[in-house]
Amino acid sequence: MSEVPVIQILDKKNYFKQALVAYPNALPLPPLAESSLRIRTEVISITTNNFCYCKLGDVFNWWSVHPIPPDTPAPYSDAATYGRINAWGYARVLESTFAAVPTGSYVWGYLPIGTLPLDFRVAPGAVPGQFLVTEPYRQQLLPVYNRYTFFPAPSAAALADRIAAKDDGVAYDALVKVMHLTAYLMDRFMYPADSARSVSLRPEQADLSNATVVVFAPGSKVGLAFAHLLRQRQKGAGKPRRVVGAASEASLPFVRGTGVYDTVVSTTAADPLTTLADLDSTNADVNAESKDKKVVIYDFGGRAGVAWKWAAAIGAKYPRTRYVAVGIEVSDPTTAGDAAQQPAKPDGLEVDQVNADGMLTAAVGQVGEKEFFEGFEKSWSGFREEGIKGFQIRWGEGIESVKEGWDRFARNEVTAAEGLVFKL
Ligand SMILES: NC(=O)c1ccc[n+]([C@@H]2O[C@H](COP(=O)([O-])OP(=O)(O)OC[C@H]3O[C@@H](n4cnc5c(N)ncnc54)[C@H](OP(=O)(O)O)[C@@H]3O)[C@@H](O)[C@H]2O)c1
Repeated sequence: MSEVPVIQILDKKNYFKQALVAYPNALPLPPLAESSLRIRTEVISITTNNFCYCKLGDVFNWWSVHPIPPDTPAPYSDAATYGRINAWGYARVLESTFAAVPTGSYVWGYLPIGTLPLDFRVAPGAVPGQFLVTEPYRQQLLPVYNRYTFFPAPSAAALADRIAAKDDGVAYDALVKVMHLTAYLMDRFMYPADSARSVSLRPEQADLSNATVVVFAPGSKVGLAFAHLLRQRQKGAGKPRRVVGAASEASLPFVRGTGVYDTVVSTTAADPLTTLADLDSTNADVNAESKDKKVVIYDFGGRAGVAWKWAAAIGAKYPRTRYVAVGIEVSDPTTAGDAAQQPAKPDGLEVDQVNADGMLTAAVGQVGEKEFFEGFEKSWSGFREEGIKGFQIRWGEGIESVKEGWDRFARNEVTAAEGLVFKL
């Protein structure tokens, strides 16, 4: 018996509010257009990143990737108020008119949340094993979201078995792969070991050698992946003096347990300047002037503007402080007015904005697509193999469990140690 497709629909302004909407008349689906794939989401993850898509959805066209279907019932048919957001993971190819990706293949990429099949036109990518979505309505989207990896037979059969078995590697692919991509781009191309090769910064801006790196939301997947890559650097080759994780009390035990950071401090219990001074007192450079010491703050989404607060204190004492904006916290969208009470960007602080898509385009320009993706896939399989110590994968099953996971984030119940992944 065919299933009744169901999708998640969100209130775009108050995206903590969601509904599951069924499409009992969706099947049978119309014939598939030429050069197209019909896919159905099978595995997705939910992290703070999905809420970031909602928060900045209008700026980056994230609400328009998966439009509200035409036969959606009221009130959810009102696309001005409601929308669908996106998630990373695997989908199965139900039908294909694109020979390279036959029916039964799997694809990994940017997917709709729900079981309603999606049709899109595609074209071959320049890298073997990848294709690009060519739908006109998706071309205003940053290119990284239109790039997919595919797995035809026989690897599709193996993948199907691994999905059925709720395999850890599949969960990591859905939860962490795109975060590792961002971290890899930062480590190799924005702040590379040879800072003269940075694709976007001047050498002195990109240089991390001997710097103190302070990471906010250090338990985030992207933060952990970045710190892990920095650890692998050789001394004298862009290696920071130390990488400090500044975590909320709730994330502290997990972040400590990962063993990825040289030091882990609490953002509520610790004081920024005492923290840095204490670290210096255990270090050979205790006598170096603070004006000579470089501090680089990476904010992967620390709560309530804590990274700005620390940046203000640290920047006042250490003039060579840089701030790197990567992520944002998950907070109740209906209390956005509270932002006025949050710490603001300190005057004079130099800020770099991380943009995975821009970095990817520049990285591919520097080394070519083939070399880039070979390097990235190798780095990713190493990281996945090693895993994150203490990280607990929580598999949910069915769209109702996605709804529950979404609600748990809204209630601020999801801890850094948990990876929410869903089989639909
Ligand atoms: N700029 C880019 O190109 C780019 C690319 C990829 C990802 N990102 C962003 O990077 C950030 C991290 O992504 P991720 O998938 O790695 O996130 P994640 O694993 O879900 O991040 C978890 C961390 O976020 C912090 N956090 C803040 N508010 C939270 C809340 N209400 N519930 C749970 N944790 C909360 C926590 O740190 P504390 O407990 O220490 O506060 C927690 O350890 C996201 O904002 C994402 O959008 C940006």
